[in-house]
Amino acid sequence: MANKLAALIAVIISLLGSVSCQASYGYGYGGYGGGNPTPPPPSSYPPTSPRPPTYPPTTPSPPAAGLRVGYYDDKCSGAEAIVREAVRGADAGVKAGLVRMFFHDCFVRGCDASVLLKPTEANPQPEMLGIPNLSLRGFEVIDKAKAALEKKCPGIVSCTDILAFAGRDASYFLSSYAIDFKMPAGRYDGNVSLASETLANLPPPFADVKQLKDMFAAKGLDTVDMVVLSGAHSIGRSHCSSFSGRLPPSNTSDMDPTLAAKLKGDCVSPNGADNTVMQDYKTPNELDNQYYLNVLNHKVLFASDAALLKATDTMRLVYAAAASQKLWQYKFGEAMVKMGGIEVKTAANGEIRKMCGFVNKAY
Ligand code: HEM
Repeated sequence: MANKLAALIAVIISLLGSVSCQASYGYGYGGYGGGNPTPPPPSSYPPTSPRPPTYPPTTPSPPAAGLRVGYYDDKCSGAEAIVREAVRGADAGVKAGLVRMFFHDCFVRGCDASVLLKPTEANPQPEMLGIPNLSLRGFEVIDKAKAALEKKCPGIVSCTDILAFAGRDASYFLSSYAIDFKMPAGRYDGNVSLASETLANLPPPFADVKQLKDMFAAKGLDTVDMVVLSGAHSIGRSHCSSFSGRLPPSNTSDMDPTLAAKLKGDCVSPNGADNTVMQDYKTPNELDNQYYLNVLNHKVLFASDAALLKATDTMRLVYAAAASQKLWQYKFGEAMVKMGGIEVKTAANGEIRKMCGFVNKAY
């Protein structure tokens, strides 16, 4: 017990080090490169609650080139407030959908709103028809915000920025205002969107830890970002088909047997429908660090969630996030901003769409 507590405190201290060092992305949480004993996974967590760490004043991560906080202040004042109001009106499930949609946009061709493009004659198979995107939700919130913004200042606010603000705002509301960060803006919208590019870029729920690390690294995100962003699985739902391979009679899953039996029941469908269940059995609509407690207690849906305990570095990050809600909230905001900088487009290779579902002219 004493060893476990010491390991936890050391992780928190090293985490704080990475918070105060803005250039530390490449190092992960640092200090645990090797040689330290791996804390054994507890049967139930937390064993004890460590003293909460103190936090440095919020020093924003350097935004991706061309992006800046307050970008619309002099171009369309009040733009961010319009998006926030549209998100506020959505239910908790749709808010969760917006957080996921931002991730799915950024991982395929960069953050460029390519995920929002609807099928047309010229492009019958856009990203939104790719398998991982069939369960996305929240498009109507983006359209609503865009319609209001086009009225107020036509041709100014990109759909990509609306989605980035919406992902930020949904996080804010679902965390009871605790995840509160500034999102740099100035992204342009792309005009290429292909369903065929989704599976190769979006990690599957059966990914192992190496595949997860590799797929995030391919987007310039490190293992810290990957583990920290995975905390979004403390909100929203999943279709049973995304995890049914882990339910009994499968003997390969290490899912908690009580949860597995409950999910098995929830997934029974007389008419063969693909039912949905909440991802976080405990606080389903709160974006909080409960996810990490669930990982430690083997009460998560996906093999990709469970995989975070399969490597020493990711396991330590799970412990750290489980130990400090505040620290994880801060790191989540940082990682969202970093994700929002993936392969951002400019006026040279993008446009400001008039409608988020369609490019301004068919190419
Ligand atoms: C680490 C790799 C990840 C994998 C393998 C993964 C996979 C999945 C899957 C399979 C679902 C359920 C889809 C369904 O069946 O309906 C889901 C839901 C969700 N994911 Fe992830 N995801 C990952 C990372 C992320 C990230 C980085 C975020 C956001 C920061 C995110 C946010 C969400 C949210 C909010 C939901 C619930 C959506 C809703 O209720 O509509 N996920 N994810």
